[in-house]
Amino acid sequence: MIIGVPKEIKNNENRVGATPAGVIELVRNGHTVYVQSTAGEGSGFMDDDYIAAGASILPSIEEVYGVAEMIIKVKEPIESEYSLIKEDQLLFTYFHFASYEPLTHAMIKQKAVCLAYETVEKADRSLPLLVPMSEVAGRMAVQEGAKYLEKPLQGRGILLGGVPGVRPAKVLIIGGGVVGTNAAKMAAGMGADVTIMDNNLQRLRYLDDIMPANVNTFMSNEYNIRELLPTHDLIIGAVLIPGAKAPHLITRDMLKEMRPGTVVVDVAVDQGGCIETCRPTTHQDPTYIIDDVLHYCVANMPGAVPYTSTLALTNATLPFAIQLANKGWKKACADSNELKLGLNVVQGKVVYKGVAEAFNLDYVPVENVL
Ligand SMILES: NC(=O)c1ccc[n+]([C@@H]2O[C@H](COP(=O)([O-])OP(=O)(O)OC[C@H]3O[C@@H](n4cnc5c(N)ncnc54)[C@H](O)[C@@H]3O)[C@@H](O)[C@H]2O)c1
Repeated sequence: MIIGVPKEIKNNENRVGATPAGVIELVRNGHTVYVQSTAGEGSGFMDDDYIAAGASILPSIEEVYGVAEMIIKVKEPIESEYSLIKEDQLLFTYFHFASYEPLTHAMIKQKAVCLAYETVEKADRSLPLLVPMSEVAGRMAVQEGAKYLEKPLQGRGILLGGVPGVRPAKVLIIGGGVVGTNAAKMAAGMGADVTIMDNNLQRLRYLDDIMPANVNTFMSNEYNIRELLPTHDLIIGAVLIPGAKAPHLITRDMLKEMRPGTVVVDVAVDQGGCIETCRPTTHQDPTYIIDDVLHYCVANMPGAVPYTSTLALTNATLPFAIQLANKGWKKACADSNELKLGLNVVQGKVVYKGVAEAFNLDYVPVENVL
């Protein structure tokens, strides 16, 4: 199969859909890979690295889309890419269709085969191509939180791990899934006094078993959250209710109960945030203050560490990309339920119920297109 890796053109996106290591595997499986010149630069991979791995470099995005049967990228196509997409071309990338109607209509119009990273789903309902970015964001939440607790950055001026004779900072993590677990590991490793909350008792039991001694588990409910807010320095929002907006577990009135300079990192901002006062921010301007509480609500946290994020993402996507290239999308999706659930828009038909429902479009069961 002929595979194309275009350069991401979305603002501030430095990740790339395939690494030189991935190219080696795809070429070894008998495929031809074309990479757009400088596509990997933002993640630290040069054109020569791709050439050494067996890819050919093409100077323009038009040529990459023009030659490829399958496109591997990271973000959803943006307006200027729509017309480059060909009928029957397979696009393997994040789409997040339900959040942007024009993209859905454009992909229907182009009659492409859109396999979305975010809906590839395992039998246990986990989302293997979202997990790596949650791992990055969870770990980063502590790094950013520790930084903004510094006084010059308007935090309380407390060192996360303390020092001998001085108590460490208190970190409260609300939501004990992938983001929360990774945040807890980092905060614990830095010596903080960590509490992780979830409303799933089974999950709390698991966390209690695996976490180090400086991590306590606590049932998530309004009473318990109100109790902890006045004494905690860094609060990390990491809640997810699949398919729904995040619940506002910290309401505006609760900010007054926190100490000035408390830092809130609301990782769940992409689902509306679990703090009522959360609004999306960017890496250029990541924070704002309300009632003396510093809010960090960057919606694409992994974008700040493209080297790590690209490797983490492609580690997870490559095995699927190889299946798609080796078998073609129809057979690969017929053989793998995980991949089949990734199909969202196929040759002009919406085959993912959530997307059809979001925009009142006709839904065609995915089996009908295989
Ligand atoms: N900002 C970013 O850059 C970025 C990056 C990655 C992920 N995210 C977002 O982070 C959020 C968390 O993702 P995840 O992968 O950890 O999800 P997850 O499904 O692994 O974990 C969510 C956890 O929230 C818990 N939960 C649900 N309701 C709760 C409540 N009322 N109180 C406490 N806990 C509750 C669930 O039991 C679950 O353990 C998602 O919204 C995700 O989209 C953001």
